[in-house]
Amino acid sequence: MSVAPPTGGVLVDRYGRVARDLRVSLTDKCNLRCTYCMPAEGLPWLGGPQLLTDDEVIRLIRVAVRQLGVTEVRFTGGEPLIRPGLVGIVAAVAALDPRPRLSVTTNGIGLERMAPALRAAGLDRVNVSLDTLHRERFARLTRRDRLPDVLAGLAGAATAGLTPVKVNSVLMRGVNDDEAPALLRFALDHGYELRFIEQMPLDAQHGWDRASMVTAAEILTALRTAYALSPDPTERGAAPAETWLVDGGPARVGVIGTVTRPFCGDCDRTRLTADGQIRNCLFATEESDLRGALRAGADDAELARRWRAATWGKRAGHGIDDPTFLQPARPMSAIGG
Ligand code: GTP
Ligand code: 5AD
Ligand code: SF4
Repeated sequence: MSVAPPTGGVLVDRYGRVARDLRVSLTDKCNLRCTYCMPAEGLPWLGGPQLLTDDEVIRLIRVAVRQLGVTEVRFTGGEPLIRPGLVGIVAAVAALDPRPRLSVTTNGIGLERMAPALRAAGLDRVNVSLDTLHRERFARLTRRDRLPDVLAGLAGAATAGLTPVKVNSVLMRGVNDDEAPALLRFALDHGYELRFIEQMPLDAQHGWDRASMVTAAEILTALRTAYALSPDPTERGAAPAETWLVDGGPARVGVIGTVTRPFCGDCDRTRLTADGQIRNCLFATEESDLRGALRAGADDAELARRWRAATWGKRAGHGIDDPTFLQPARPMSAIGG
């Protein structure tokens, strides 16, 4: 392995991992206020000129796809459906050659209305966050009484063909940790693929506490009270979710065990924030500014060079267990998960 970043080709780091999956945050704003993510009053949002324009976002994704070997593009937020230009951005990225696979991770609000247009623009699939099936609990957890909109959004996505529809659930002790089997029942009944996510130290309030995190092992134990889980023979690849067949399959359930079952060694991700910063890891404490370079007139080759250099410096792992671990200054809602 050489000691300097390559001058051409794909996004590779010094451990040999290649980043082919780009996660693009389109806004740091959100129409929910999940307690494990944001304070009730929201956060100081990025201002207008700080945000990349639609054309700037498209240009950077084009560089990633055409010059850097990115094959998957995922739009995130905050809440990506509230970005006014989303459908146009999806259409422009779907027109790239080679065409990347395109997905959105959303809280589901407004998805019922937007799903047909997103599908027509070229979106392949969606992941929707849903932590509880109880309306009052949902209202408490997200500080908004919007559960019916989320359920309608899920159904609308399936009807529009944005499949497989995946559902993300974060369990919290004493809040919704009694719901694992019920959430799986709901997903099985509707043909959605459910994944449980271990809560990560990325909240704006810095309230994460390892002892109160519901672990992958606990989630699996809870599911096994109602379902038989067996190893999934399909190749996991770089997916954060480890999956199991439910009652012999073909339905599956996943667990994203970042903290207790880390998968950093297989990571294939690179991230672009809504204000044009490259993050080589969800937990990176340093970023590389592409917006400044782009606005100063850098050509595509220069942008690609900076992106390669940013990737080269990626750390081996998130280091949550290290005594020196520092939570990134940028909260989850401004990274995009
Ligand atoms: P699929 O390709 O649809 O399976 O997507 P995904 O599970 O990678 O993405 P999604 O946006 O649904 O994210 C689900 C959870 O995985 C979120 O909590 C993300 O923060 C987390 N996640 C996504 N990528 C990474 C990663 O590279 N590292 C870690 N630790 N977590 C990640
Ligand atoms: N830890 C784990 N998952 C989180 N999410 C938001 N904040 C956290 C956190 N601190 C989840 C959301 C959504 C996905 C993108 O990330 O619930 O499903
Ligand atoms: Fe919004 Fe997602 Fe954060 Fe909830 S977790 S407040 S849906 S960005």
